[in-house]
Amino acid sequence: MLDGPGYQLEHGISLTYLLAGRRARPLQDLLHGVWLGHPLHPALVTVPVGAWTAASVLDGLAATGRGGPGAGSAARVTVGVGVAGAVASAATGLTDWQHAHDGARRVGLVHAGLNSTALGLYSWSLLDRGRRGRAGRARLTAAAGLALTLASSWLGGALSYRHGLGTDHADRSPEPRRFTPVLQASDLVDGQPVGVDVDGVPVVLVAGDGEVRAVGGRCPHQGAPLGEGWLHRGELVCPWHGSRFDLGTGEPTQGPSTAPLPCFETRLREGRVEVRRRGNWRSPTATTTVEEASR
Ligand code: FES
Repeated sequence: MLDGPGYQLEHGISLTYLLAGRRARPLQDLLHGVWLGHPLHPALVTVPVGAWTAASVLDGLAATGRGGPGAGSAARVTVGVGVAGAVASAATGLTDWQHAHDGARRVGLVHAGLNSTALGLYSWSLLDRGRRGRAGRARLTAAAGLALTLASSWLGGALSYRHGLGTDHADRSPEPRRFTPVLQASDLVDGQPVGVDVDGVPVVLVAGDGEVRAVGGRCPHQGAPLGEGWLHRGELVCPWHGSRFDLGTGEPTQGPSTAPLPCFETRLREGRVEVRRRGNWRSPTATTTVEEASR
């Protein structure tokens, strides 16, 4: 039942970004949180949840006459801060959600519906707070909005912890700790990523300019096999949603992924490529040059 509207909304978001052209890419990366190294949405949702919870306390104090003369105006300000935060949170959430599938897509749609209703109620409440004689209704709509927000927050938690939306899907195993042979150097073609399994750890090898670079083979965004990706201007592109990664540092240069890929050292021994996990996965990868192979 939710799949139809879910697809329509997803296509609407994708089409909007598509029509916006190249300018939309930096905006999407900003909203995903690529610059932050972490999804922006869960950080932003604390603004409306916190502000509206504070407003409910202030409303309670104002309604019982214990908050002093400033309680009503303070509640109005906090409701306004929450409305602004909710609009920003919705932009980040929808931008992330457009890449969700199956159950995550459906749960995300209900989450978005509840949040939108709560935002509508709080906007109504904010308008009422500027009118005489509407204080009671303003508090009632705010209370209803808070109930919906809390229910929706539970769904947001399920999206992350049950459906893995926004969590890091890269394999962060410290293995292999020792150089391990993975394939013959002659099997590599310049500029063509090759996925290999190193004792259960997915790795992608990319040869080019006389070097072999190695990064994690599972996309941090939703776990796509990066061995099926391709290179664009020297960066590794995810085959599912187009994240791009710097092969030198593993850092995402384009979202939706916000987390970097693990990096591996490589060397050539007797015509075979060997890889070893780097201790610090944010530091540049060591690469093997063709000259080394001939030593
Ligand atoms: S799985 Fe979504 S960008 Fe890679």
